[in-house]
Amino acid sequence: MPTVEVMPKRPAFPINLQANGNEAAFKDPAFMENRTAPVHRWVPWIAGFSGAFVDSVLATYLDGRKPALVLDPFAGVGTTLIQSAIRGYDVVGFEINPYAALAAEGKLKALRVKTETLDKAIERMLLDARSWRNGRSAGEMAPEGFQSRIPFFSPKVKNQALHALAFISRLDDERVRDLFRMAFGSVMVSFSNYTYEPSLSSRPGAGKPLIEDADVVATLAEKLRQMRADIEWLRCEASGRKPGRGQIYNENFFSGEKRLENGSVNLMVTSPPYLNNYHYARNTRPQLYWLRLISSPEGQRPLEEGNFGTFWQIAREKDHVSLRFEHRELEQILARLRKLNPEKGQYGGRGWANYAASYFNDCDRFLAALKRVLRRGGTGVIVVGNSILQGVNIPVQDIIGDIGKMRGLLVEGIYRLRNKRVGDSITASSVRMGASKATLDESAVVVRKR
Ligand SMILES: C[S@@+](CC[C@H](N)C(=O)[O-])C[C@H]1O[C@@H](n2cnc3c(N)ncnc32)[C@H](O)[C@@H]1O
Repeated sequence: MPTVEVMPKRPAFPINLQANGNEAAFKDPAFMENRTAPVHRWVPWIAGFSGAFVDSVLATYLDGRKPALVLDPFAGVGTTLIQSAIRGYDVVGFEINPYAALAAEGKLKALRVKTETLDKAIERMLLDARSWRNGRSAGEMAPEGFQSRIPFFSPKVKNQALHALAFISRLDDERVRDLFRMAFGSVMVSFSNYTYEPSLSSRPGAGKPLIEDADVVATLAEKLRQMRADIEWLRCEASGRKPGRGQIYNENFFSGEKRLENGSVNLMVTSPPYLNNYHYARNTRPQLYWLRLISSPEGQRPLEEGNFGTFWQIAREKDHVSLRFEHRELEQILARLRKLNPEKGQYGGRGWANYAASYFNDCDRFLAALKRVLRRGGTGVIVVGNSILQGVNIPVQDIIGDIGKMRGLLVEGIYRLRNKRVGDSITASSVRMGASKATLDESAVVVRKR
């Protein structure tokens, strides 16, 4: 494999030494901290990084220089965008999933929400609930296109959910309405017969009891009160300094990147989907349908086909996906993978090799776009995990570094953030079966435009 040029680390770089002596370049890359941090905690999302991580990247690579534009092309629920905007940087993001984009946009607009209007709407929702709690039917329909193996909500819960959604749709203030929708999306699985494990599974399938009844409106009100408290926190945090301007496009980055001018971005901080087939589109089907962001499988398809690297379920059906660039070691890895378990047809090595080739072709498109939009001297920080497919370890971070070099970017370093991360069932099962001794880790690939 072409070796990655590792530049000497800059002294300003925040270095923590872990107990085992392994170096972690940045502060707390895990999303765990976001589960309790104000604003970031509004909507749980998989495989991101924390606001504190973004802070340390901003301090290292922008060091207060303003104005500066920060980009996240795979923005998720907006950790990079909101944290950078709080610190006064202008931000732009792209996110293909409408539910995640709704969350990121709601956070960016939160400072402009009138808390008195929000308070009144929460009170009105609780009052409204008194009138229908005794059993009156909601008169609203569940989203027709949404199918689930077992009833998604038990009947009592479903009636409450429909009443709550009908109330939300009647709210006049658009920003408040979007906060309510985001809150509903954030809590809806908690009172459903499904659970995130981390993929969406039925509760009985995960050994958990069905939820026959729940207080939907109380759960929603609690979430909204948390959000309200965080808006106050945001006001204190922002007081005395001007938050940056923010823009999020609910678009596929590969078609949306043309919105960005050449050399306009000072810093990119992102975590693209990992090569682990975590199915963002399927796992957010409840929110996508119930919040009426899509209404049919046709609406879901562009999210699946346009997802970075597509999904294994799509790539495996293709004849032979070839790499669109040259990389000898990756070609060897793919050839080895392709030959594994031929008796399984597209479910064996062939399907996984197709998936990996699609993924790295998108890495190449992504790095070409990054080279174009970064200004000279601008930095890109890409947080990514390695992968184990059919027992074959794929050093995603090194290959991304190589592609960056091929695209003319300088690789400042590949910094190990975590030596162990919890794997998803597909990659981890091959480890459990003893097929591979490799473990899943996570790194930041740091590239710079000369
Ligand atoms: C690992 S997550 C990013 C999480 C983010 N760092 C956060 O903290 O919320 C990757 C995101 O990329 C989005 N995505 C996948 N393909 C995309 C594409 N082609 N354009 C834009 N977004 C995409 C997924 O929907 C997912 O939200």
